[in-house]
Amino acid sequence: MTPSNARKTRLTKARKIAVAPMLDWTDRHFRFFLRLITRHSLLYTEMVTTGALLHGDRERFLRFDPAEHPVALQLGGSDPVEMARCARLGANWGYDEININVGCPSDRVQNGRFGACLMAEPGLVADCVAAMKDAVTVPVTVKTRIGIDDRDSYGELVDFVGTQAAAGCDALIVHARKAWLKGLSPKENRDVPPLRYEVVQQLKTDFPDLTISINGGIKTLIEAADFLTTLDGVMIGREAYHNPWMLAQADRVVFGDDHPPLTRHEVLDRFLPYAQRELAAGVPLSAMSRHLLGLFQGQPGGRAWRRRISENAHRPGAGIEVLSTAAPRADPPLGG
Ligand SMILES: Cc1cc2nc3c(=O)[nH]c(=O)nc-3n(C[C@H](O)[C@H](O)[C@H](O)COP(=O)(O)O)c2cc1C
Repeated sequence: MTPSNARKTRLTKARKIAVAPMLDWTDRHFRFFLRLITRHSLLYTEMVTTGALLHGDRERFLRFDPAEHPVALQLGGSDPVEMARCARLGANWGYDEININVGCPSDRVQNGRFGACLMAEPGLVADCVAAMKDAVTVPVTVKTRIGIDDRDSYGELVDFVGTQAAAGCDALIVHARKAWLKGLSPKENRDVPPLRYEVVQQLKTDFPDLTISINGGIKTLIEAADFLTTLDGVMIGREAYHNPWMLAQADRVVFGDDHPPLTRHEVLDRFLPYAQRELAAGVPLSAMSRHLLGLFQGQPGGRAWRRRISENAHRPGAGIEVLSTAAPRADPPLGG
């Protein structure tokens, strides 16, 4: 197998459980932390716009730690030439997949003509896919909704999906609810339109050769495993952020990896040297610690952990001792 094929095979497996792109949440610190909990799941960056990449601080947007692999870069944009240039930048930087955001409904995004409003322009998205496929060898994928506004018939969705498949899209991730572009905030658009998982299942029946992942409202690995009997992948967003420990069994249950998972305290212990390095490079503790608030969710001492971090991490000069002293006491070893 060539190295590029081996990478693709690894990615196909990793796609079974993916952590969703989430602006302000899935930055490189959160991804490094999550990688300590699951070694195999696919992690997505926050959305990065083509404008930011082509005219902004490229290193800031693209930088990641090698430990984060497999990791996918999500792009926001709709100009095929710019999308191809950004895809090439991402691939050269080492990303394992380049994804197009056709799901975000915010006004800012609509003005820039990208995100969910692109569902109304299947041909333009397909031009982006084709241009990006020409530019890179890593998979090019699309994350979308099941419809927007009144354009929410199954026929329109099939037209959209078929157009992307014909352009060479390697995988489709479908948030199983429509978006209302006018009248609902992005947050409401993640809760108010009802989830319609059956639509995504139907797509897989109608496009059996297309790799299709489902997203929206999935909270447990049991639910995920159930979807994996008919679909190629499950993408998890908010639950993975607020309760990252939900992924602790993913490697064993979904990926068949028998390595014992780290304990919560071991995850923290391995995060500390990373945090120390980043502090030394000028990153404030709070930029990292905010992503760890959910680590002890539901555990004795979990609330005190959150409180101590919230109270202390933003103080000038705060160091990793804030994290180590905030942690609940570890259970004594059995029989000890
Ligand atoms: C804070 C936040 C930021 C998000 N940012 C993005 C984004 O940058 N790109 C994107 O495609 N979706 C974004 N989403 C949507 C998620 O990727 C996902 O589709 C959505 O949360 C539904 O999945 P869930 O119910 O598992 O959270 C965001 C969601 C949240 C909560």
